[in-house]
Amino acid sequence: IAHEINNPLGVILMYAHLMQDACQEGTRAKEDASVIASQADRCKKIVAGLLNFARENKVLKVPTDMNTLVNDSLKLVQIPYDVKVAVVKCENNPVAEVDGDQVIQVLTNIISNALAAMESDGMLEITVLGSEDKVKIAVKDNGKGIPKENMNRVFEPFFTTKQLGKGTGLGLAVTYGIVKMHSGDIKAESNADPTQGPTGTTFTVTLPRHANKDSSSNHFIS
Ligand SMILES: Nc1ncnc2c1ncn2[C@@H]1O[C@H](COP(=O)(O)OP(=O)(O)OP(=O)(O)O)[C@@H](O)[C@H]1O
Ligand SMILES: [Mg+2]
Repeated sequence: IAHEINNPLGVILMYAHLMQDACQEGTRAKEDASVIASQADRCKKIVAGLLNFARENKVLKVPTDMNTLVNDSLKLVQIPYDVKVAVVKCENNPVAEVDGDQVIQVLTNIISNALAAMESDGMLEITVLGSEDKVKIAVKDNGKGIPKENMNRVFEPFFTTKQLGKGTGLGLAVTYGIVKMHSGDIKAESNADPTQGPTGTTFTVTLPRHANKDSSSNHFIS
């Protein structure tokens, strides 16, 4: 269905742009056409997010080093010049059986949110930890934090506090889905109240080091 919606949406977007070009600068009609275009564009992003959801049920698990995935993820996000990044690697061979592309998506989603929550003097700290049967990745920021009343809602599809047109609210919902597909866990800890101490948020992703016994014989899980 998401694919079916994409085509008419593309047509709306194209005609909205044509109308925008045809209208005189500063007119109400031009403004209206631009609202249509930007909202149609937003719909396209939501549809793309939904398609991501649908894609997730095929997980190709391969033993993967989490230190490397953290580095790969950091290369894919734009770090503002005033944000410091520290990575604490795990020396204890942090290999988990995961779909690397999907875990990179998990990490880039969490890192992008952290960057969006920080203003000046941002500090992003990523720690990889390994135990006998688990690998943990903690992403800590010193941003504005998540207010208590929103803590239960951040993984909900379409929950966003970003301004209209900026976020679709699918980042953490997709993230949660991917982590669960890997029989993993994701937790958030946060403080948004400066009177209670420094504000900031830590998202911790826990992944099993070894594949489940009953799924180790086939690499595809659907
Ligand atoms: N590190 C963080 N610090 C503060 N708030 C956060 C953080 N991570 C997530 N949030 C809150 O959770 C909401 C949902 O995040 P999510 O990634 O699902 O959507 P989004 O970032 O708003 O939009 P999208 O990811 O689709 O662009 C955010 O709008 C924000 O309010
Ligand atoms: Mg996000």
